[in-house]
Amino acid sequence: MKAIAICGSPRVEGNTELLLQVCLERLTAAGVDTELVRLAEKEVLPCKGCGTCGKRLDRKCSTDSDDFHEVFEKMLEADIIILGSPVYFGSATPQMMALLDRAGYVSRKNGNLFSRKLGGPVVVARRAGQNFTYAQLLYWFMINDMIVTGSSYWNIAFGAARGEVSEDREGLETVARFADNLAWLASKVCSNAAPQVEPEAK
Ligand SMILES: Cc1cc2nc3c(=O)[nH]c(=O)nc-3n(C[C@H](O)[C@H](O)[C@H](O)COP(=O)(O)O)c2cc1C
Repeated sequence: MKAIAICGSPRVEGNTELLLQVCLERLTAAGVDTELVRLAEKEVLPCKGCGTCGKRLDRKCSTDSDDFHEVFEKMLEADIIILGSPVYFGSATPQMMALLDRAGYVSRKNGNLFSRKLGGPVVVARRAGQNFTYAQLLYWFMINDMIVTGSSYWNIAFGAARGEVSEDREGLETVARFADNLAWLASKVCSNAAPQVEPEAK
């Protein structure tokens, strides 16, 4: 069982990354292999809408001059995909959407390569826009035939300056519970998966 968390923030070690690390720590504790992918350290260009992926059907995007395929391969290998983004003007970041447009299109043209992978979104903002961005990312999971787990709240948190989200206790608890639910579900759907995580009393 492998989980990746993709951080769509251009800010390394920022609030999104902190939330994703909480998720990955919980999954690691449950016996899942984990990896953080920072889009801040990758170049992923936007989809050109050329349609070549639908003609070649070789699980590849026609743009091969950037880091897309490296990240896409990690997504294909993973059983669990967590997408984290800060809110930028009420939306997920362009870095995240560039990846999701291309990954989603190549996947769908090649027979839904993300089918039945587990995962979900994690979102942070200074003040507003979390719900919209959470929904925006949720749409991507749902159209890609994936399985999303819930939590004790939506996976949203508050924070502006780097690290400030660590003061949002409810946000941290929500994403921790989300990760525990992913580990629990993984243990149910895969006999080789992580052991069951004990439910928390709420
Ligand atoms: C270009 C830009 C746009 C932003 N737009 C919003 C916004 O619409 N709503 C909001 O509450 N915060 C907004 N923020 C604040 C970030 O969401 C917030 O600082 C977040 O914690 C950044 O996460 P990071 O540390 O992972 O980069 C914006 C920040 C930037 C740089």
